[in-house]
Amino acid sequence: MPSYSVPGKVHLIGEHAVVYGEPAMIAAVGRRCVVSAEKSDKIEIYSADFGSRTYEISEAVDFAKDVQALWKDGLAKKDFSPLFQLMRADKWNFRKAAIGIVLRELGIDGGVSISIKSDIPIGSGLGSSSALSVGLVAAIQAAYGKQLVREQINDLAYKLECINHGTPSGGDNSACCFGGLVWFQKAQPKNIIMPLNEEIPHSIDGFVLLWTGMPERTTGELVQAVRNLDENYRKPRMKEIGQLCYEMKTVLKARNYARMKEIINRNQQLLAELGVSTPTIDRIAEVVRGIGGAAKLCGAGGGGTML
Ligand code: PMV
Repeated sequence: MPSYSVPGKVHLIGEHAVVYGEPAMIAAVGRRCVVSAEKSDKIEIYSADFGSRTYEISEAVDFAKDVQALWKDGLAKKDFSPLFQLMRADKWNFRKAAIGIVLRELGIDGGVSISIKSDIPIGSGLGSSSALSVGLVAAIQAAYGKQLVREQINDLAYKLECINHGTPSGGDNSACCFGGLVWFQKAQPKNIIMPLNEEIPHSIDGFVLLWTGMPERTTGELVQAVRNLDENYRKPRMKEIGQLCYEMKTVLKARNYARMKEIINRNQQLLAELGVSTPTIDRIAEVVRGIGGAAKLCGAGGGGTML
C-alpha cells in the first residue's frame, strides 16, 4: 500500500503578499501528514482524527464536479463564500471532493481506500490542508501506478487547495511537496519554485512555533478580507513585504541574524496593518521584541501559530 509522509510548512516571510505575486520563503516543519491508499471499488476514508466514511465512487466524483463548478462561479464573481460555506458545512466535504477531483483528473475509473494520519494542527498556518492535498494526490496516483513526477503531484495538489481556499498562491503546497527551504513566487507561465538548501545550507537555530488559538476565519476568508482592503492601502504594504523577502535571502546567506530579526518584526507589523493579526499575537510579538527577539504570525493569521 503506497504511503506518503508530507511535511507541514511555515512562512519565514511573504504570506499574503505571495498571493499578489511577491516572493515568499517557506520552510518544511517536522510535523507530518501520512496518507496511504489502495485500490477499492468504493471511496473509503479512514482518518485518525475524524473516524471513517464510505462513499460510492459516483457520489464522490459527482460531488467533485459540483464543487469545481462552484469554484468556477466563485472565480467569475470574485466571491468564494458559497464554496467556503459548503466546505465548512461538513468536515468530510473537502476529503470527498478532493478524492473525486484526483480520480477525475487522472482518469481513474475505480475507487480508493485511503488512510490519513496527521500531527499538523488544523487551521493553524502550518499547511495542514496543503500537506493533506499533496499526500492524497501522491498516494492515489501511486495506488493506480500513474508514476506522476513531483511537479505533476504539486500541480494537482494546487487544484485541491483551490476548493479549500479559492485562489491560493500555491506556495503552501509547493513547500509541502518539495520540502526543505523553498523560494516561491507566482509567475506566468510557470510559478518559480526554488529550493534554497544549496544557497543557504547552514541551519538557522532558535526558532520556536507558538500556538495562539484557533483562528475564527479560514485561510480563504482571511485572504478575501485582505482582498477587500482598498488597493491603495494594500499595494504598498505588499510591495514592502516583497522587498523584505528579497533582503531576507541576502541576510540569511550572510548569517546576519540581527537584520533577520528586524525583517521578521517589520513583517509582523505589516501583517497587522493588513488586519490579519490578533490582540493576542500583537501582545506576544511585543513581549518577544522586548526581550530582543523577533516574532510574527504564520500563514493566513487570525490566530494559529506564531514563529
Ligand atoms: O494559513 P495557511 O497555512 O493556509 O497559509 C496561507 C498563506 C497565504 O499566503 C495567506 C495564502 C496563500 O495562498 O499563499
